Amino acid sequence: YLVCPMNASPYVDPHKPSQEIWEEFSMSFTPAVRDVVDFAKRISGFCDLPEHDQVGLLKAGTFEVLMVRFASLFNAVERTVTFLSGKRYSLDTLRALGAGELLNSMCEFSEKLAALRLDSEEMSLFTAVVLVSADRSGIQDLNSVEALQDKLIRGLRNLVMQNHGEESATTFTKLLLKLPELRSLNNMHSEELLSFKVHP
Ligand code: HEM
Repeated sequence: YLVCPMNASPYVDPHKPSQEIWEEFSMSFTPAVRDVVDFAKRISGFCDLPEHDQVGLLKAGTFEVLMVRFASLFNAVERTVTFLSGKRYSLDTLRALGAGELLNSMCEFSEKLAALRLDSEEMSLFTAVVLVSADRSGIQDLNSVEALQDKLIRGLRNLVMQNHGEESATTFTKLLLKLPELRSLNNMHSEELLSFKVHP
């Protein structure tokens, strides 16, 4: 089993060599990763960062961007996850196939993000903030990354303040509090990835 929704389905053919399983899995998630790179290039100011830092932020932040972007794959009310093929599976099924606590944490994250009711412009700016807020270890030009982060956060605040009436201050605060949550999901997910063997 391969219980990541970036795969087409959690079931894998037990007779298939693991190299082929990985190849098919990467064909499934590569377009999404490529979209993140294209998205980054369109963040004004991102391409002005040193190339080394662009790569560093993308390496550290791609999962977090994808988590936000694909949050809607998780349906907390119906307790289901839709895989990239479009097939839906219940959390109980995925649990039985080997998924753990992380699956629930992601589901909860998605539910809370949806509750903030961001429009597509806000979602896009929030995603840009997520990317430039990625882990900075190894970043060369910290000042430029921070300046870009400040600019994007100010933009996000203005937008949320315009759109969310009485709730705007709490909505903005809750969004910023999503950043450490995403970091933690990223770390837990990396451990799943590193320890992954196709379950017997
Ligand atoms: C688990 C890879 C992105 C959600 C896993 C596993 C691998 C993996 C190898 C372990 C599977 C297993 O043990 O059966 C990847 C790769 C990604 C990626 C290479 C790069 C694009 C994502 C994203 C999400 C996600 C963006 C969420 C939207 C999950 C979930 C699990 C998982 C829910 C199961 C966690 C659990 O066991 O509780 N992933 N993943 N993955 N992944 Fe991903």
